[in-house]
Amino acid sequence: LVSAFMLPNVFAQSPKEIEKVINQAHKEFKGEKGGKNADYIPYLKNVNSDLYGIAIVTADGKVYEVGDTKFEFGIESISKAFVLAMAMQQKGSDKIEDSIGVDATGMPFNSVTAIELEGQKPSNPFVNAGAMATNSIIDAKSKEDKWKFIMDNFNKFAGRDLKVIDELFKSEMATNQHNQAIALLLESYGRMYDNPMTTVELYTKQCSIGVNAKDLAIMAATFANNGVNPITKEKVLEPKYVPKVLSVMSTAGLYETTGEWLFSVGLPGKSGVGGGIIAVVPGVMGIAVFSPPLDEAGNSVRAQKAIEMISDNLGLNVF
Ligand code: DON
Repeated sequence: LVSAFMLPNVFAQSPKEIEKVINQAHKEFKGEKGGKNADYIPYLKNVNSDLYGIAIVTADGKVYEVGDTKFEFGIESISKAFVLAMAMQQKGSDKIEDSIGVDATGMPFNSVTAIELEGQKPSNPFVNAGAMATNSIIDAKSKEDKWKFIMDNFNKFAGRDLKVIDELFKSEMATNQHNQAIALLLESYGRMYDNPMTTVELYTKQCSIGVNAKDLAIMAATFANNGVNPITKEKVLEPKYVPKVLSVMSTAGLYETTGEWLFSVGLPGKSGVGGGIIAVVPGVMGIAVFSPPLDEAGNSVRAQKAIEMISDNLGLNVF
């Protein structure tokens, strides 16, 4: 017998309740003034800071939306969760654990110090070092084939053809010297599994994919639905890899503040400096919130608050 209190409170998740809670979370934090847009990538600095959208997609394919859910923004580091899924699907989870690592660094996402202190390894697939190593570990005949493999998989997760935001890609390519340095450092430690400069380019491109909040909720719901896209019904990921991806999201999804996030929200999450955050409720739903202003760690302020309220009010905390 499964004890009732071990399950999320399903009675609080009727369509009416979900609707009510996302409207409430939107209203409550619309006036929130905390945080500021990422400014180290010029494109991101100029996105309207007032934009705010919330989307939920349930594991059985129901869609709920409020606010700016049609606006396309850079997926940024949220892409790392999906590229990890693709790499695991191709190479197995042991390979990821051995070659990249699955431990939190407790340090900023672009930290070079973390690489040095953690045994000259990237530590996990969600810091920039680990995300580049993960991109590099994917096998393909050429750069073009690898990009096609990556993009095709993103499209399957989202259930539509996504596109790179060219202006964002150019803006990032012109300012990604720090990531180039990390890629070369990893190469020097034997932790880069493809040409480092090709890898920086493809990593930057994966971060520049444009998504809206609804796309991200569908992508998160694909994890919630054991690797099957709940809208298209296409199987995108082997079910055995879903808990592996979610465990890394739980320990490292919001960088050095992941502990605080897990403590208050109780769900695996992944953030990006474009202002998006996804959260996954296994078996139940995917949640995505978009709003550009970020805290010091690079996580959207409104998105964190909104997801905490949604988790509390719908009884979603997995612990
Ligand atoms: O590599 C970078 O710095 C960006 N393209 C992505 C970083 C990011 O989104 C970190 N997130 N919170």
